[in-house]
Amino acid sequence: MALTSELGKQIKLKEVEGTLLQLATVDNWSQIQSFQAKPDDLLICTYPKAGTTWIQEIVDMIEQNGDVEKCQRAIIQQRHPFIEWARPPQPSARNAKDCMVSYYHFQRMNHKLPDPGTWEEYFETFINGKVVWGSWFDHVKGWWEMKDRYQILFLFYEDIKRDPKHEIQKVMKFMGKNLDETVLDKIVQETSFEKMKENPMTNRSTVSKSIMDQSISPFMRKGTVGDWKNHFTVAQNERFDEIYRKKMEGTSINFCMEL
Ligand code: A3P
Repeated sequence: MALTSELGKQIKLKEVEGTLLQLATVDNWSQIQSFQAKPDDLLICTYPKAGTTWIQEIVDMIEQNGDVEKCQRAIIQQRHPFIEWARPPQPSARNAKDCMVSYYHFQRMNHKLPDPGTWEEYFETFINGKVVWGSWFDHVKGWWEMKDRYQILFLFYEDIKRDPKHEIQKVMKFMGKNLDETVLDKIVQETSFEKMKENPMTNRSTVSKSIMDQSISPFMRKGTVGDWKNHFTVAQNERFDEIYRKKMEGTSINFCMEL
């Protein structure tokens, strides 16, 4: 499958077992499937744009006992390599509507991903799961169903936003660490949106403009809950809620509707 953007960029994607992948990751698919975690491995399993970078930085800050300088040793992509491109799981979910908005702007600025088209077109693409890494619904539902069977800590972007210290404490306990209050406060401060937006180790400013053009939309874009209200029409919202109800039936996650 090849998608051509208005800018003429030809992005080739391949559907593997129902999931669209970038060509560069297709060859790693079997390797990902046969991946065996060691007991002390920690895997962060996020849907794109759910706050991957945020949780990566929180985990590294905890691992380094709040040592800011150590967390400056390399860009986040090197400190937490993506398994698909090259440690028990820790899924992080974000409400689907804000994920859709964030992904839309990310595809506008990321020249390695297909052009998203208009917002109306992208809405259809997203709800049909025809985005790279597949459907938000399958990802979140899949991990939610697994969460009690394995050693999994399920986190929500919205919860970290509401009470970062409480959620960071949960991650800390899950990692078997015991950091004191002042270190925790420092981690909260250093992993705030404002700090991470200015931090070259997390804000992707080291990525070439030919790959990510931050003048189109910054990688650290808004970092808020509810930006979907600035994008969804009333009709789109009603349709989305209906689809959400059907697709997420049987799960107790209904954070999408309340926001
Ligand atoms: P927005 O586009 O809504 O601003 P990922 O790292 O999975 O690609 O997710 C990116 C999204 O997480 C972006 O959302 C980005 O702004 C947001 N984000 C990154 N760091 C954050 C932080 N420290 N606090 C809140 N949101 C953050």
